[in-house]
Amino acid sequence: MYKIIDGKLVSQSVKDDVKAQTLKLKEQGIDVTLAVIIVGDDPASRVYVNNKKKACEYVGFKSLEYALPSDTTQQQLMDLVNELNNREDVNGILCQLPLPKHLDEKEIIEAISPLKDVDAFHAVNVGKIMIGDYDFLPCTPAGVMEMLSYYDIDVTGKNCVVIGRSNIVGKPMAMLLLHKNGTVTITHSRTVDLKNVTNKADVLVAAIGKAKFVTADMVKDDAVVIDVGMNRDQNGKLCGDVDFENVAPKCSYITPVPGGVGPMTIAVLMKNTLKACKLQNNLK
Ligand code: GUN
Repeated sequence: MYKIIDGKLVSQSVKDDVKAQTLKLKEQGIDVTLAVIIVGDDPASRVYVNNKKKACEYVGFKSLEYALPSDTTQQQLMDLVNELNNREDVNGILCQLPLPKHLDEKEIIEAISPLKDVDAFHAVNVGKIMIGDYDFLPCTPAGVMEMLSYYDIDVTGKNCVVIGRSNIVGKPMAMLLLHKNGTVTITHSRTVDLKNVTNKADVLVAAIGKAKFVTADMVKDDAVVIDVGMNRDQNGKLCGDVDFENVAPKCSYITPVPGGVGPMTIAVLMKNTLKACKLQNNLK
């Protein structure tokens, strides 16, 4: 019988830990503040930003929201990022992606101070992740690692297969699994005979962005399956990259969607923001 990896449960434990530490900082007169920038009116981004604000409230952070119109210019956005970089009372800066097409995402990411880059998207932080010496963990992959740790799932020596090679999930996910001594394979849309690779996975992470892409015939018996996807099926119902119903019976552990990786991403964001505040105040 498979076990469900409960993202709500694990994220609650991470957030409660952050909350307790935030309270201690408050007692020393230190507030933790996260600035969130959202440009335009993408409904999914709005939901994510609202959830991030709610999490800030829960753990006791101050949150500042900058909701900019969709015709915001690159210069206006750069000016805001620079202003937030220079504000001593702002510990973390997050610019919700994707940005409207006319804006240069890469330039904005690189403009955020690496010390306030709580998404860990800046090249400096990406480089630090690569060498295993990081302050900020990339939120979604780190959330996955928290889940594995909570359920005592050791990846040492295991075949770990990541489907997807994005900068936000696939690549850093592979790196974090590698740091924990997994034997890691990254697959993508050009991989030949994907099924033959995924069938050897002890740990399979699906980050493709295609509804129910991972089917039962692609999964080894007793595999640990982590679903990073967030899609809508034909009926508009939220679903992951894994065909949960048919894949779950083959697994030892599996994450559901919703209630799996999603809540973990925000919990790690809270962890990173607390870390940013501590680093900026020369605290451990
Ligand atoms: N859009 C989708 N996921 C993310 C994320 O983790 N951070 C930011 N900034 N934008 C996103």
